[in-house]
Amino acid sequence: MAGPQDLKALADRAVAEIAMCADDAALEAARVRYLGRKDSEVTRATKQIASLPTKDKPAYGAAVNEAKARIESALQSRSAALHGASIDSSLRERVDLTLPPRPVRIGRLHPVTATIRDVSRIFGTMGFETIEGPEIETDYYNFEALNIPPGHPAREKWDTLWVSNPLGDDPKVPLLGRTHTSPMQVRVMEKRKPPIRVVIPGRCYRYEATDAIHESILHQYEGLAIDEKLTMADLKGVLYSFARQIFGSKSNVRFRPDYFPFTEPSAEIAFSCVICEGKDPQCHTCGGDGWIEAAGCGMVHPDVLRRVGYDPDRYQGFAFGGGIERLAMVMSGTPDIRLFAQNDLRFLESF
Ligand code: PHE
Repeated sequence: MAGPQDLKALADRAVAEIAMCADDAALEAARVRYLGRKDSEVTRATKQIASLPTKDKPAYGAAVNEAKARIESALQSRSAALHGASIDSSLRERVDLTLPPRPVRIGRLHPVTATIRDVSRIFGTMGFETIEGPEIETDYYNFEALNIPPGHPAREKWDTLWVSNPLGDDPKVPLLGRTHTSPMQVRVMEKRKPPIRVVIPGRCYRYEATDAIHESILHQYEGLAIDEKLTMADLKGVLYSFARQIFGSKSNVRFRPDYFPFTEPSAEIAFSCVICEGKDPQCHTCGGDGWIEAAGCGMVHPDVLRRVGYDPDRYQGFAFGGGIERLAMVMSGTPDIRLFAQNDLRFLESF
């Protein structure tokens, strides 16, 4: 005698078969076979109800309804799938899948970041550790600890951007966008004991009328070495090696006496022009004289050492500081420093 389990087997078979239908015609044939009004499998099962004992009728009837519902939903979802698939294949005829894809735009390092990494890597080969420091500084670290007291004319050279103190304007703690990375010389010496060899890349701020070689936001790299027997010769050796590693073996370095309040003696560093090699009187990079002034340097001033508690009779050292954009401009022949901050992809992608 027929029972609910026969209807479950029937629905299982129908659902499996429907899932295999490859087109609308096959689907329609399956619908007629299972659900058609005249002589379908479900109709035949329904007719059996009459011959069942009364107590079995409700369970059997429910099984019939459930089988019907399962088959109907299988028909519907198969039809939807076939329809979607046919849209896919008609699209495929119109879209040329053999066309090469559009190029993927891969990002790259900003030239300033790339130059900072070059600088860190090169000084790293000479034992210098790269560290960073605060961009907002106190008057003390930016000026006073570097022998630049209030009223000192050297303050004029660094057109300072003062910032208001978020903790309330305490006149004892004037804050500024650091005008150079040199305050980190002092911060490092306060925290560490010699021997010290560090390089500090970072952003600096100056109140500038901007032009092709001046920007109010710029990046510098600062170097500091402190030990017991360091001389100007060590400073020169390190900077020669730096120039050759960054500009190539032909490059040269020129030292000329200069003045900085926090180094004594002090020198200005110029790198030989790698663009024209001194041969083009019209050269945009060096202005025609074959040299590019790129950094300041000197032996750390004994007063600076004393202020952080070092004995100048025992420890000496050298410091140097130069512009990152300057280096990037020379290496790439970029004529205008303002391009670095303009976010123009045509410029950035040329690197
Ligand atoms: N901080 C100086 C400047 O910005 C450069 C410098 C660094 C000079 C270290 C001497 C020693 O011009």
